[in-house]
Amino acid sequence: MIKEYRDNTLYFDGCNTVELAKEYGTPMYIMSQTDMIEKIQEVKDCFTKDYPRNRIAYACKAFCTRAMLGLAKKEGLCIDVVSAGELLTAISIDYPPEHIEFNGNNKLPSELELALDYGVGRIVIDGLQELALIERICKEKGKIANVLYRITPEVSASTHDYVNTGKKDSKFGIPLDMILPACEAAIQSPYVDFYGIHFHVGSQIFDNATHLAALEVTLYLVSQIKELYQYDVKELNIGGGFGAVYTDEQRQPFSYFLTPMMNRIVAYYKEKDLPLPAVVTEPGRSIVAEAGLTLYTIGSIKEIKDVRTYVSVDGGASDNIRPALYGSKYDGVIASKVNDEKTELVTICGKCCDSGDILIKDIQIAKPEAGDVFATFSTGAYGYSFSLNFNRNPMLGVVFVKDGTSEIAVKKQTFEQILQNDLLPASLT
Ligand code: LLP
Repeated sequence: MIKEYRDNTLYFDGCNTVELAKEYGTPMYIMSQTDMIEKIQEVKDCFTKDYPRNRIAYACKAFCTRAMLGLAKKEGLCIDVVSAGELLTAISIDYPPEHIEFNGNNKLPSELELALDYGVGRIVIDGLQELALIERICKEKGKIANVLYRITPEVSASTHDYVNTGKKDSKFGIPLDMILPACEAAIQSPYVDFYGIHFHVGSQIFDNATHLAALEVTLYLVSQIKELYQYDVKELNIGGGFGAVYTDEQRQPFSYFLTPMMNRIVAYYKEKDLPLPAVVTEPGRSIVAEAGLTLYTIGSIKEIKDVRTYVSVDGGASDNIRPALYGSKYDGVIASKVNDEKTELVTICGKCCDSGDILIKDIQIAKPEAGDVFATFSTGAYGYSFSLNFNRNPMLGVVFVKDGTSEIAVKKQTFEQILQNDLLPASLT
């Protein structure tokens, strides 16, 4: 177990979290390497073991640091990047270029140039004008880009509207009624090698029906491409979106999503007598969410009689925007009182100057006191990567833990760093 309760104290991947708070300070993200490696192994077991041409591309938007990409590299994963910043993080640790897939609905010319210069393995085209842009750059540079098209599969997942990306009304993907001519153009282009079709139906999904529905749309497209252009699609990318546990969700194993999709792909290609494509999945959250923990120190406690008790911590929306943005729910515990009776119903709030800065509404905890360390669980995905300098709070550091050992992975931002690009114009001095 990654999370353990020993001596009334929370241990995480073998480390005493109260000691971690003392050693590294709070607020601080803690990431369990063991948990991430276990999750990666679980995907490998059901997705690449029997299909060696399949690839797992960790969607690093969920959590992108050198340490994380170092772990992905060590595990032999591909990565999905969506910006120059993510790509440069990968380049800074010599990530194998052929293991990088570049997604994004508005890739800038400069980003595409960087990607093509580095020689990324795939570019997933996500807009009707993008092919011409890639062709222009490839022509200039004398390169050929390996491309897929991201489609809007026009299926809807039961998840938060902001992360329900496969429906027709979405900024992502090529509309289905425009995809075939786009494929023809890519097949005929001397500047790109057309690999296939990509879809991503959304995030934090627990029901495989949406993925399977999007797959049907994709397979139909594959046969149309064969029929119309006599072209064998070489690769399918089925995206990510697999749900993680924050509070009381029932986790689905990766195989729940991936095995029926692979079975369907194999059956379909057999029936059509087509060569089996390579299949790529892009899990982000499901690899890192549960591996993360945020440690805070409790400060002021405000009891409003018969209304609510606010327990403030030394971080907040600036390190976890998700409750304010999506109404996301989290769970947590006072790290030094894990076996104490949870007698208090409280609301954990941050120190940001915004009344929406609530981290956990109505949670039952042991009696809180100023100075206690509070741990919020499952903060590994879209926490650090979504953090901001609201109120000029510094961005948190990250500590990687494994089997009772800890290493600093990202240093906490300093106030000097917050100010370093911030100038007082001469006219105002
Ligand atoms: N592939 C593509 C093309 C994506 O757009 C995404 C996520 C993923 C893979 C990874 O999805 P995951 O396995 O992490 O669900 N900020 C939101 C989540 C946004 C997800 C955007 N795209 C949140 O905090 O809930």
